Amino acid sequence: MELGALKAEIEAAIAAAGSPEALEAVRVAELGRKGRITELVKSLGTLPPEERPRAGQAYNELKREIEAAIAARRAALEAAALEARLARERTDVTLPARERPEGRIHPVSQVTEEIVAIFADMGFTVAEGPDVEDDWHNFEALNIPPEHPARQMQDTFYLESRDAQGQPLLLRTHTSPVQIRTMRAGKPPFRIIAPGRVYRRDYDMTHTPMFHQVEGLVIDRRTHMGHLKGCLTEFVRAFFERDDVPVRFRPSYFPFTEPSAEMDVGCRRSKDELVVGEGSDWLEILGCGMVHPRVLEAVGLDPDVWQGFAFGMGIDRVAMLKYGIPDLRTFFEGDLRWLEHYGFRPLEVPTTFGGLSR
Ligand code: PHE
Repeated sequence: MELGALKAEIEAAIAAAGSPEALEAVRVAELGRKGRITELVKSLGTLPPEERPRAGQAYNELKREIEAAIAARRAALEAAALEARLARERTDVTLPARERPEGRIHPVSQVTEEIVAIFADMGFTVAEGPDVEDDWHNFEALNIPPEHPARQMQDTFYLESRDAQGQPLLLRTHTSPVQIRTMRAGKPPFRIIAPGRVYRRDYDMTHTPMFHQVEGLVIDRRTHMGHLKGCLTEFVRAFFERDDVPVRFRPSYFPFTEPSAEMDVGCRRSKDELVVGEGSDWLEILGCGMVHPRVLEAVGLDPDVWQGFAFGMGIDRVAMLKYGIPDLRTFFEGDLRWLEHYGFRPLEVPTTFGGLSR
């Protein structure tokens, strides 16, 4: 067979090989021990001596060219196989982890996250204290005298254990003891919020024996009532997600603040709807005031140097207002259908820039 024709034929077979196995078959047929090219090289000995050098050169050249063509084809097949495999195994890592994750975030958790996000933007950090408190942190240091009505049995859950002073331990009735713990544990200035559980003996549509509050405390050298008003007004507008929420501060009384106030937000009440942020009605949402000098003294701060404000807000209550949940008791019944309805999507973390409650 003429060498040029043989070469063309083998090259065509190489090009036609669609898999590494097919290509290997071509290689064995041409270059294997009994392959056509191998046989050609072996046949050199049968040629007349004067033809051998030229023929040998031509055969070797053919052999090299075919080897190179096979190697190139093999590389191309391997690259194509890799491409196909990558395409087959492609994963879009930007897809949601699951079409619809199971479970829901409870409105209390959601609203706590929202509140933390807003105050974090204002430079507050989160502080914590224990649910089981002693009399001094929950009452005494907060300037609540022994005969104060808040201490009476119908409000406070007392435990059988007693503290070192012989006073019964209790379940904290508010988050205000975290003010005391924070000021005792660190050095001023302070700027903290303290969300958590509180306990009072009460049970109806808007009261449960356990509920949630968030405490706020700012202590610095020149903090005044204007800061309190600005901070809480800003908070309420961010929380209810509208810039025009009317607010009003009404004089009030708390033993641990002086002066004390309650903050109302403007709302509209109709027969079966309550809309915060418009209308001519008012709704109380939190208690606040300038930290009482006696409280500062109780934690060893000089009231002539340090001053500030505090506030306490019901988390469940603002959750009910914001998300239109009518009965507080349902928060703690563990009804999955309720949670399915009022709960939040697990992977949507509230932020002030990405949206609090989408
Ligand atoms: N601790 C008060 C309550 O439980 C709320 C409050 C906190 C008021 C801080 C003023 C300052 O009602």
